[in-house]
Amino acid sequence: MASSGSADLVIVANRLPVDRVTLPDGSTDWRTSPGGLVTAIEPVMRANDGIWIGWPGGTEGDLEPFEDEGLQLVPINLSQQEVEYFYEGFANATLWPLYHDVVAKPEFHREWWDSYVSVNRRFAEAAAAAASEGATVWVHDYQLQLVPAMLRELRPDLRIGFFLHIPFPPAELFQQLPWRRQLLEGLLGADLVGFQLQGAAQNFVRLVRQRVGHKTHRDLVYLPDGRTVRAAAFPISIDAQGFEELARSEEVTQRAKEIREAVGNPRKIFLGVDRLDYTKGIYARLRAYSELVVDGHLDVEDAVFIQVATPSREQVEQYRLLRDDIDRLVGRVNGDLGKIGRPVIHYLHSSYPREEMAAFYRAADIMAVTPLRDGMNLVAKEYVACRFDDNGALVLSEFAGAAEELRQAWLVNPHDINGMKAAFLEAYRADERDLTRRMKAMRKTVRQNDVAAWAETYLAELAALRPSHGKTVRPPHRS
Ligand code: ADP
Ligand code: F6P
Repeated sequence: MASSGSADLVIVANRLPVDRVTLPDGSTDWRTSPGGLVTAIEPVMRANDGIWIGWPGGTEGDLEPFEDEGLQLVPINLSQQEVEYFYEGFANATLWPLYHDVVAKPEFHREWWDSYVSVNRRFAEAAAAAASEGATVWVHDYQLQLVPAMLRELRPDLRIGFFLHIPFPPAELFQQLPWRRQLLEGLLGADLVGFQLQGAAQNFVRLVRQRVGHKTHRDLVYLPDGRTVRAAAFPISIDAQGFEELARSEEVTQRAKEIREAVGNPRKIFLGVDRLDYTKGIYARLRAYSELVVDGHLDVEDAVFIQVATPSREQVEQYRLLRDDIDRLVGRVNGDLGKIGRPVIHYLHSSYPREEMAAFYRAADIMAVTPLRDGMNLVAKEYVACRFDDNGALVLSEFAGAAEELRQAWLVNPHDINGMKAAFLEAYRADERDLTRRMKAMRKTVRQNDVAAWAETYLAELAALRPSHGKTVRPPHRS
């Protein structure tokens, strides 16, 4: 057994909450990391004196552990080749498309897999060195599926949790993976394997039975060494109260007004907010919207679409192709259909602070969240949390995890352009009473099931599985 460190809670995620970026003048700076994982985990960390192990972005090695706004961060440095093979390769060109319904074709390369194994081992060793005797280690997401078993081998005293933020694929797709058994065994190192949806947990248990041959009963897997592993759903969420408070603030109220004015005070503003990712359905969404303008159902004097796209994984080929496709589509639509001072689509390829995101949500009348497949989608929940006026419409893909909770949204099949057009129009024309009825119900759901409740439930169930081990971990406080 490896010797222990001093942290009672260790979060292990591919990314740290801050990302080191190189500025045009060659100097480096820190920014909030992209994506829903960081949004969700940060409040959990703030409620505990734990440490967070992750990659700081980039390849400049030898960063020492440091503190950022009260969080203790332990950087795991990656070499240029590891960024290419582990992060851009196995994580984002093999697992990401495979776990998202093969929306893009996954690539299988043995040298990428080797890099995935060695980087996972580095994360496991860092967690083993940081955790105190009997501590709780919570490992996150598809980049680190081997860490639970590696860590268990190094530190059998630990209470180990794993949570997958993205979908877990159906058996027919998962079985394509040449390393399917190793991934399943990696996850079985955890005491509790958490998924966004019940169906994903069931897929996992079924695969373990078929591929690894362990006995299972409902959500439990019985291992030959006497350990039991539980697989269950814990739909992730946001700091709903925090977002609402931000949305109510004077600054955000003022900024939302400015945004409406800047786009010409149209009758209705449509909004899309996504990482620039092919799973998010941005292309089909913008096509559906522009067809409504072509068909004469929407007029550029009355309506505008703001699409905010965070730069993401820009060295991966599929992401470059997507960026070119969206650039071309927006250029063509605005060129063909826009008027002076009245583009059809405002396209912003940039990251913004949380306050600015809240201002966008408040400024928008119709929020279009139409991924082809998404583990949860926190943007949908953030929009709802910010609509304290009980107004605003959410058009939501059936294939986002959030659709299981936000049933009062206009639910759409993002592959069906005509269906999306109809939903956009209905949301555009909906009367106040309908909007209020739907939004009130969704707000209740998001308020009740916030990120504090998510972490509380997960950590309590993890503790219940290993009652004799470890110390109690506090869920985040509600703000
Ligand atoms: P994913 O994890 O796949 O990126 P989610 O919708 O679950 O998708 O989470 C995205 C998170 O990133 C949300 O918290 C959202 O507010 C944030 N976000 C998205 N776009 C931007 C942007 N342009 N600038 C800043 N934050 C953004
Ligand atoms: O769960 C979605 C997720 O992949 C997170 O794991 C990740 O932190 C986020 O999206 C952003 O992606 P990336 O870390 O590749 O920039």
